[in-house]
Amino acid sequence: MSEIEVTDDAGLRTIRIARPEKKNALTRGMYGAMAAALRDAAGASTVRAVLITGGTECFTSGNDVGDFKARGDQAADVPSPAREFLAALRACPKPVVAAVAGYAVGIGTTLLLHCDVVYAAENAVFRMPFVDLGLCPEGGSSLLVPQRGGQLLANELLMLGDAFPPATALRAGIVNAVVPVDALMATAEGIARRLAAKPPAAMAVTKRLLRQSGEDALSAHMTEEFARFGALLRGPEAAEAVAAFQEKRKPDFTRFHAAAE
Ligand code: COA
Repeated sequence: MSEIEVTDDAGLRTIRIARPEKKNALTRGMYGAMAAALRDAAGASTVRAVLITGGTECFTSGNDVGDFKARGDQAADVPSPAREFLAALRACPKPVVAAVAGYAVGIGTTLLLHCDVVYAAENAVFRMPFVDLGLCPEGGSSLLVPQRGGQLLANELLMLGDAFPPATALRAGIVNAVVPVDALMATAEGIARRLAAKPPAAMAVTKRLLRQSGEDALSAHMTEEFARFGALLRGPEAAEAVAAFQEKRKPDFTRFHAAAE
């Protein structure tokens, strides 16, 4: 079975992340499949709304950590599949709803900043552990989280990188509402179907208007984030973090020093 399942039903396209044995960690192929499903949704007249979910146990543990290492070994100008997926998500003119349960780590949290309506189950656990991985925030999170949740909360979530509960995600402006686990899919699907039933041209214009203010600044900010993320990914701190994850040990960053910018 594919690790990204795409199903269409009465105008609603559901993109389901399905790699449970690895907590739905996202590989390059999975980003590619999600990007293709979103790009196709943009052009398909039969698709009126999109739902992104990992089901009721785990949304996604974020980028596959092994893939981070492979990416770090590649040349800087090789396009990043995660970046292409986020570009397809941001460009989707149709409403995108996310249903989040269990872990939403790294891009599992930051992709939500680009969805239109987000529901979290009470068992959701969010985390943006970029610094702990020797990386910096991506996906516009270092701009959007301070904008939505305030500077101090953003500092806490992005500098400490601790796991945080749905109530904090609500306070940070990452989710619309928190619902019981067994109500998650019905709630998210119900809203997605309501959005799908609305007049499509009016919906597309509304979505564009809601997003266009600040769009240029966000694009420029994301370009800088990705450049810095890529440089850090090829650096020694990320190499130590990935090795520690794979060896199931604590990373040791004591030998590193930050060069002054
Ligand atoms: N990349 C690759 N493999 C991952 C993964 C990831 N992001 N997240 C989980 N896995 C794998 C684990 O290595 C483990 O594989 P194994 O059974 O072959 O040993 C399996 O999925 C189950 O994960 P496990 O850690 O045992 O589950 P858990 O419930 O104890 O913890 C997490 C879940 C998500 C908290 C934990 O796996 C984790 O921290 N993952 C890394 C998250 C991360 O740093 N993502 C990148 C963000 S930028």
